[in-house]
Amino acid sequence: MNLLHVSASPRGPQSESLAVAATFLDTVREVTPEAAIEEWDLWDGSLPAFGPDAVTGKMTVFAGGQPTGAAAVAWDAATTTFRRFDAADTYLFTVPMWNAGIPYVLKQFIDVISQPGLIFGFDAERGYSGLLRGKRAAVIYTSAVYGPGRPPAFGADFQAPYFEDWLRWAGITDVSTVHFRPNLATADAATARKTAHDQARDLAKVLAADPGHRVAGV
Ligand SMILES: Cc1cc2nc3c(=O)[nH]c(=O)nc-3n(C[C@H](O)[C@H](O)[C@H](O)COP(=O)(O)O)c2cc1C
Repeated sequence: MNLLHVSASPRGPQSESLAVAATFLDTVREVTPEAAIEEWDLWDGSLPAFGPDAVTGKMTVFAGGQPTGAAAVAWDAATTTFRRFDAADTYLFTVPMWNAGIPYVLKQFIDVISQPGLIFGFDAERGYSGLLRGKRAAVIYTSAVYGPGRPPAFGADFQAPYFEDWLRWAGITDVSTVHFRPNLATADAATARKTAHDQARDLAKVLAADPGHRVAGV
């Protein structure tokens, strides 16, 4: 198993999603000491920008051309980033809710690697097709106000639906999730936190015990 942890929380030791991820990764190490585990902190400065040059590169490739000059440099940076991502067969994503969606650094990551001929194909009649194959993803979601069943004033969820739509669009259909969404104003977070860590441990056991195992999609 080649496992890549893509981390979108900048909160280090304060981070709830990173704590659940640590439980997941510790369990994988226990069950499968030989598993290759790579950490990718999206806040470490390794993500290239996706601005005018990169957009020119992408649209040139999408139109069947070959980028040149600054667009070619930006395209190379995007493809190098994609290759690092594509080297893994199993992913762990830690995804905090930020303003009902995902942290902008994770959106930047998505914009950088979602490239024609790498992650997606396109056909004028059939539309998009995801090009990733045989990959599995576990996703840990956190929020501190929004939670399912809470009144609308506690917010809405454009985090999990958006992120999972992207995974499936890219061809990663084997997706399992852990949600930690304590209502900090009223609830006992400790109980929900324990449940999230237990779920992460169980999920890690399932994924690590059988690298070929396909977990049920959600
Ligand atoms: C910039 C920012 C925006 C946030 N927006 C929301 C939000 O819209 N809804 C919510 O329930 N929690 C929101 N939160 C709270 C986080 O989702 C919560 O603290 C969560 O634990 C973050 O994950 P982490 O602990 O792994 O960093 C926000 C936090 C930050 C820093």
